[in-house]
Amino acid sequence: MSRAVDSPRVVNIADLRLMAERRLPRAVFDYIDGGADAEFTLRENCRVFEDVILRPRNAVAIPQCDLHVTVLGKRLDLPFLLAPVGSSRMFYPRGEEAAARAAGAAGTAYILSTLSGCRLEDVKAASRGPVWYQLYLVGGRDVASATIARARTAGYSALAVTIDTAVSGLRERDVRNGTKELLGSSITSKLPFLRQFLMRPRWLAGFLRDGGLMSFPNVMLPGRGPMPYADVAAALEQSTVSWADLRWIREAWKGPIVIKGVLTGDDARRAVDEGAEAIVVSNHGGRQLDGVSATLRALPEVVGAVNGRIEVLLDGGIRRGSDIVKALCLGARAVLCGRAYAYGLGAGGEAGVTRAIQILRADLVRTLRLLGCSSVAELDRSYVEAPVAWLIDAPSRASVSGR
Ligand code: GLV
Repeated sequence: MSRAVDSPRVVNIADLRLMAERRLPRAVFDYIDGGADAEFTLRENCRVFEDVILRPRNAVAIPQCDLHVTVLGKRLDLPFLLAPVGSSRMFYPRGEEAAARAAGAAGTAYILSTLSGCRLEDVKAASRGPVWYQLYLVGGRDVASATIARARTAGYSALAVTIDTAVSGLRERDVRNGTKELLGSSITSKLPFLRQFLMRPRWLAGFLRDGGLMSFPNVMLPGRGPMPYADVAAALEQSTVSWADLRWIREAWKGPIVIKGVLTGDDARRAVDEGAEAIVVSNHGGRQLDGVSATLRALPEVVGAVNGRIEVLLDGGIRRGSDIVKALCLGARAVLCGRAYAYGLGAGGEAGVTRAIQILRADLVRTLRLLGCSSVAELDRSYVEAPVAWLIDAPSRASVSGR
């Protein structure tokens, strides 16, 4: 499989996206690719990187580039982590283990979604890098507490609590693809949607070999076992986390807590006050509230509000190494990539994820050398020009550096 994702067939992340589209049934591809409502925020997350212009220092020789960062006290060889992506086992057999293995081999961290198909113990064992657990409260507090205890025992190094799922966003593509009907019990409702699977025999063979429809083995319902696979929209309905929940989560989990889903200075300050060690500036990849700010646009305000007290990460829209560079210049310590590797997973399993990481790493090195900067630690606002309106509440250059 690794040859299939090599250059020149796959030169960038968009090529992996096309390969994933060809291999996956429409409902599965659109689950990765789609966003909420009119997909304004989904598009804007990517487009907004074009508003930031790079300012190179030319005639500078850069023989070596240092890409390492320290996140929550752990050294990562790359300034990006693999974001939690639900249902990855539907993209490729044992998908979460494959992605975690690729992340560990590249010297970075993988974040496992609660809504995953592989057991959290198996995912941790698959990676030689740090693994974080992303928490949704599906199944309620007791179920979550039991999972938190399992994650601690298995050696997870951080807990990422997602705070932007009061309800699920309306993912219109999922409605049109019949995701709910496909998961329901009525055969007649399913029938009109089944063709998309028969048209993807290679995917179907792997899916059946991997045991067919996955369940959620990290959501163990008392007396019932693993929660049966559900439409993610239905699962998110029961996942609301409030600030009050953070108190018992903090009791149950003694390690670092990362709050994912911050878009404003106010929420950022609240996360600091609640004792988070880091936040992720995130709009859930444009899958929840459509019409909110692109994450890069929100980053300077959040970095200003945090004022160096905790670590600020960002996800959303990252498809190139230069996108990562821009986010780091505007104050992110590191970023999370979701779709960029999920396309690779859908295209070719672990080899596809490895290729996505390789593309982003090569982009980073090339961008730094062309910028005249020898390490990601040195990136700061002097390397970019961003719209003035973004920077009004932002801190000075000094407080965004220091990785
Ligand atoms: C899961 O978190 C999703 O956004 O689909």
